[in-house]
Amino acid sequence: MAESDNTPSGAGGKTPPSGGRRIDQSTGTETVGHEWDGIEELNTPLPRWWVLTFYACILFAIGYVICYPAIPLGDHGTRGLLGWTSRGQLARETAAANGARSGTLAALAATPIEDLPKNPDLMRAAIAGGKAAFKVNCVQCHGSGAAGSIGYPNLNDDDWLWGGNLTEIQTTITHGIRYPGDAETRMSLMPNFGADKILTADQVQDAASFVRSLSGLEPKGAAAQRGAAIFAANCAVCHGPEGKGGRMVGAPNLTDKIWLYGGSRDQVAGSISNAHHGVMPAWGQRLDPVTIKMLAAYVHSLGGGEDFAPAAPAEATAPATGAPAAKP
Ligand code: HEC
Ligand code: HEC
Repeated sequence: MAESDNTPSGAGGKTPPSGGRRIDQSTGTETVGHEWDGIEELNTPLPRWWVLTFYACILFAIGYVICYPAIPLGDHGTRGLLGWTSRGQLARETAAANGARSGTLAALAATPIEDLPKNPDLMRAAIAGGKAAFKVNCVQCHGSGAAGSIGYPNLNDDDWLWGGNLTEIQTTITHGIRYPGDAETRMSLMPNFGADKILTADQVQDAASFVRSLSGLEPKGAAAQRGAAIFAANCAVCHGPEGKGGRMVGAPNLTDKIWLYGGSRDQVAGSISNAHHGVMPAWGQRLDPVTIKMLAAYVHSLGGGEDFAPAAPAEATAPATGAPAAKP
């Protein structure tokens, strides 16, 4: 270390004797005493704001370690003086959210679906809940806007296979359609008129002509006229004498240009030859009654929901039986 200042510097520089510290002329700052090929290092102090921030961080870290869980120890960590845990926070927030919802859910459970329209606030809550449940359970078949596709009915229009008031929709959702696992499922089976050889191939074509003529897709020519007789004998029992459909059996209205399985000649003839027997699951087996009520309210709200038939007047004027007799 005690070399003379004349010794040439090595490649890695050298440490001058402790007397090497000096005040740099141009900046007025002390050097650290290191020198490389004549280049020296200034001992510039750290900016004050930086040093203060650094100490503040250390103080914060010490406080944090004392107050919150921080240091891992075997199967658990230090608990911290505040007793905070992320699980505890989640539990508190979940309980608060459930508390806020439980009032609405209890009110929905207690209100028969027929009475929902009398309570607009509850109806709104039900529609919002139904919308969320629809996204989870129904969009894969009915589409995200409930507009349906071939074989899956559009739920936005006022064309209903099985009925469009709140109770009818609730029944459809609860028990499904042609769903084997539910004894009360909505059931009807249109025969396979072609495959079961009830009609010849020509008769199927004639029936298709008649069906298409009902919505103006084909002129009422000779084929359609032959088809009309076939329709009256084989089809009117379910689709109605005028082809307007039958909700008791879920038979579509054939006069409205809304097709479940397509309206081209081949599609209509195909529907007659080989009926489709579409299946919708019974949601009563998977979802709770309140969720189903909310789904029915949502589907009903989509645009085609129907009102209840007006109550029979006899019911309204019926004397109140079983009323307690006035005490003397
Ligand atoms: C696996 C596919 C599938 C899923 C999932 C499904 N549906 Fe359906 N849905 C159908 C089919 C198919 C029909 C028509 C059956 C028929 O031909 O009558 C139908 C019919 C309906 C109808 C009757 C429409 C009418 O015109 O009468 C309603 C209401 C309905 N679905 C609501 C729902 C709701 C609400 C959900 C979700 C909880 C749901 N669907 C989930 C397949 C499905
Ligand atoms: C037992 C009742 C029943 C009888 C009888 C019946 N249908 Fe149907 N039909 C239905 C039902 C229910 C559907 C709904 C489709 C399904 O099976 O999923 C349907 C669907 C159809 C469709 C498809 C409609 C669409 O929107 O895509 C056509 C077309 C049709 N029927 C024509 C006929 C003709 C023509 C006859 C007589 C030769 C006939 N049906 C007899 C019940 C019946």
